[in-house]
Amino acid sequence: MKTNWWKKAVIYQIYPRSFQDSNGDGIGDLAGIISRLDYLKKLGIDAIWLSPVYQSPNDDNGYDISDYQKIGSEYGTMETMDLLISEANKRNIKIIMDLVVNHTSDEHPWFQSALKGPESPYYDFYVWRNQPNQIVSNFGGSAWEYVPQLDQYYLHLHSIKQPDLNWENKNMRQAIWDMMNFWLNKGIGGFRLDVIDLIGKEPDQEITKNGPRLHELLQEMNQKTFGHYDVVTVGETWGATPEIAQLYSGEERQELSMVFQFEQIGLDKQAGKRKWDLKKLDPQELHQVLSKWQIELAGKGWNSLFWNNHDLPRIISRWGDDQNFRILSGKMLAIYLHFMQGTPYIYQGEEIGMINHPVTDISEVDDIESRRMYQERLAAGYTNAELLDSINAKGRDNARHPMQWDSSSNAGFTTGTPWLPVGDATEINVADSLADPESLFYTYQKLIQLRKSEETIISGSYQVVETGNLQVLAYLRELNNDKILVVVNFSAEKQSYKLNFKPEVREWLITNYQEQISEDLKPYEAFAVRIK
Ligand code: GLC
Ligand code: CA
Repeated sequence: MKTNWWKKAVIYQIYPRSFQDSNGDGIGDLAGIISRLDYLKKLGIDAIWLSPVYQSPNDDNGYDISDYQKIGSEYGTMETMDLLISEANKRNIKIIMDLVVNHTSDEHPWFQSALKGPESPYYDFYVWRNQPNQIVSNFGGSAWEYVPQLDQYYLHLHSIKQPDLNWENKNMRQAIWDMMNFWLNKGIGGFRLDVIDLIGKEPDQEITKNGPRLHELLQEMNQKTFGHYDVVTVGETWGATPEIAQLYSGEERQELSMVFQFEQIGLDKQAGKRKWDLKKLDPQELHQVLSKWQIELAGKGWNSLFWNNHDLPRIISRWGDDQNFRILSGKMLAIYLHFMQGTPYIYQGEEIGMINHPVTDISEVDDIESRRMYQERLAAGYTNAELLDSINAKGRDNARHPMQWDSSSNAGFTTGTPWLPVGDATEINVADSLADPESLFYTYQKLIQLRKSEETIISGSYQVVETGNLQVLAYLRELNNDKILVVVNFSAEKQSYKLNFKPEVREWLITNYQEQISEDLKPYEAFAVRIK
């Protein structure tokens, strides 16, 4: 029976390469994750979204899969994977697999066979054309790669080593359904569907996202696979509007549980440009966008709530203050987001306030997206300094540096040489966070608990509250006369504000200062109170 357990759940994302190494090769692995399950249990999360651990040549760190039913040797074996699922389940933690089915690796046997030409049964699993058109790859440059022996081009919306699958091909779809059922039968908790809004593409029309058959394909996927299980599904959909998100997540439509939408993520880039073209965030814009999603999906879909993932910079460095108010701004951001309606996602290290990891030279950068952008823009006349500024602000490596467990060498992540350098863990690490009752960790723990006890957070209505100050954001959640007021100061300065009602506090739920409402808010002050 379906229970929608995920409406009360908080999900934790693990980027396995950087979480915990168990054998000293410098790469995080499944045994490492198993050894940290008790930590995650203490945090209180319900499920883990595991970034890809399948066999992969790692051109895009596992998002280029060469065998969907094998575990990458650096991560362990299928036995370790089974053990992770059962050890997690013992602790009431579900494992959500990352499903990357817009493309495979070029080293996948399907693509290797496809390269033999139209007589291969796998040729039509991919998208071939005699001539390229204007479609560009999400990582920059043309999305078409020439194959001399076929005198044809294949489509790759990401790197050359990530050929796009042809979702028009029935046999291809069946092979994907079989693979998904293989995983569902292992007792996993669901799927996160990588760039899923691209599978309905119409390359000849130059339509890549939100293609005409997208929702039909998802309904078929639902029927053939996860629709028969009590699992969560979350689609990564960069092109979703609230209207589109209703199609994905409206319950009667039988597509997905929810999607990751990214409208707020684009608010600190220049309009019409790429994420590298930086602009300062306006907190009012953020409040408008998130409030719009709250209101438009209410009763018609379901939101996911997140600040971070493995593709985004660390939120405290991005929209908080990682120099002077690391903990206070981290708590403010957490409180502001976690009282909204939807399923919150916490990205590894967010709960201890990990920050960005600036570089001084392009040779220090691992991420394929940043490296491609650097070469492209250098050739176009940008300066080295400008490009490093962009990479330090937005580059994906920022979130991929190893998890900081303690202040020992390599932060307890590995006894060997880490695949990506470890940041400064003297102040930012799990051991110290656990020892300090005032740490960000316990704010997250509390927020997760509140989601279990406060039905108003799960199903209450949402209303924007005016504060008369552009830096002060507030909202009200309400269910059957239960009212929760959330007020946050999104700035490093003291701010005065005025509500058009006088809140009478019934109960303090959480704050990052004293339990006291005053006329001025201190830097990054944030609170949630039950009011009369
Ligand atoms: C998604 C992943 C990202 C990956 C891309 C291609 O955006 O989150 O890490 O590079 O898809 O698979
Ligand atoms: Ca390892």
